Amino acid sequence: MSNKTFYLETFGCQMNAHDSEKVVGTLLEKGYSQVAEPEDAELVLYNTCSIRDKAEQKVFNRLQQFKRAGKGKIFGVLGCVAQQEGEKIFDRAPHVSLVCGSASYTRFGEMLVQLEAGSRRVTGLSLDTDETFDTPFTRRDNPHRAYITIIEGCDKKCAYCVVPFTRGPERSRTGESVMAEARRLADQGYTEIQLLGQNVNSFRDPSPAAWDFATLLARVSEIPGMRRVRYTTSHPRDFVKAIMDAMDANPVLCDHVHLPVQSGSSRVLAAMDRLYTRDEYMRRIEWIKGAKRKYSITTDIIVGFPGETERDFEETLALLDEIQYDSLFSFKYSPRPNTAALAMEDQIPEEEKQRRLVIVQEKQRAIQIRRNAELIGTTEEVMVEGRHQALGQWIGRTSSNRTLNFTHPDTGGASLVGQYLPVRVTRSGPNSLVGESVGAP
Ligand code: SAH
Ligand code: SF4
Ligand code: F3S
Repeated sequence: MSNKTFYLETFGCQMNAHDSEKVVGTLLEKGYSQVAEPEDAELVLYNTCSIRDKAEQKVFNRLQQFKRAGKGKIFGVLGCVAQQEGEKIFDRAPHVSLVCGSASYTRFGEMLVQLEAGSRRVTGLSLDTDETFDTPFTRRDNPHRAYITIIEGCDKKCAYCVVPFTRGPERSRTGESVMAEARRLADQGYTEIQLLGQNVNSFRDPSPAAWDFATLLARVSEIPGMRRVRYTTSHPRDFVKAIMDAMDANPVLCDHVHLPVQSGSSRVLAAMDRLYTRDEYMRRIEWIKGAKRKYSITTDIIVGFPGETERDFEETLALLDEIQYDSLFSFKYSPRPNTAALAMEDQIPEEEKQRRLVIVQEKQRAIQIRRNAELIGTTEEVMVEGRHQALGQWIGRTSSNRTLNFTHPDTGGASLVGQYLPVRVTRSGPNSLVGESVGAP
């Protein structure tokens, strides 16, 4: 390669976003520079997501656009679609030269050398690994809030889910390496960190210290300079009481629990192989609601899983009424390769899935309108994340993970981003709050 420029577009979850920060760091360290447009890059990379069919199609659409314009460029497909489709990608998109899944990023530097030497079918597809991908070169996008991977892969086998096939078996980092990274970030001025994994609750330090997730949370939140610690995602089965106790003990651990339920019907949960019943899930919700602090609770819902009856669906709606989530992500079930649900009978027609999705979203919208309105008049501490120039507002995030946009006296051009400020809530909508800052913290 001659000018060593790259373009990288990232799809999917925070794990992918953070993997991209590591990949970018590796590329910069190897003398590459990043450009904002694929047209200007010699190496064009897509870090892909395969969680639903729509996500998977995105990368092929992108590659299609470049079929002709991409002459002379080198294309690489990274991430979950790369792992899932493997070398088939070379047949489907012959202009692709690199196919690499997340379990092979430890070898990313070597793969670049192969590409530079002219290889046009470079692959990293082995899932047979106990490695985790940590690099001293990680290039973080945000100067105040940082991701840290604590566990990679997933050992659950939810019947709808492609992740165990795209990210391989669970591998935890050592507690000490996570602590060292968190301390280094605090020294660099980061005040918020988010611990990442597909199932953070099953974190288990492989060193003799053998910390579990609750211990790790407690330790990380004690690091001087840390103001907010979040984590994602939790599997309800592994969400033990000790996690709630750790959170209650230290307010640095944010007032938010994301606990994906998927369905309110124990019958569907069993078919999904989620390993908990509705009652077991409710017990966890009771721990959270009975805790010392008030936590916001959010979830993920899948509608139209094979065999989901009207009655099952109504149980999901009743669960939303009962729990009153602060927010949720809802999805139509999407059949995925290799998964158990693919071959299940009673697949639900697309129109019916769409109908159920709309009902869930409308119900939840009404719940959020009501819940957010209850916050009017309260004062919340926000971390300032940005500025809405046109609206004359600053963008803030509360510990409970709500967006709270606010007005503030003229700063004379100075940025408030990264600061923590008390803000009084004056208005509310379904998805965000509006307020005004009320003096120095
Ligand atoms: N590890 C997390 C989930 C990661 S995927 C957990 O166990 O909760 C994020 C969300 O995508 C899931 O919670 C689920 O709601 C949704 N999802 C996963 N596979 C899906 C599929 N095949 N169709 C529709 N939604 C899916
Ligand atoms: Fe997928 Fe289930 Fe693993 Fe979450 S826990 S990543 S839904 S298999
Ligand atoms: Fe998508 Fe892979 Fe994340 S499938 S949601 S990018 S783990």
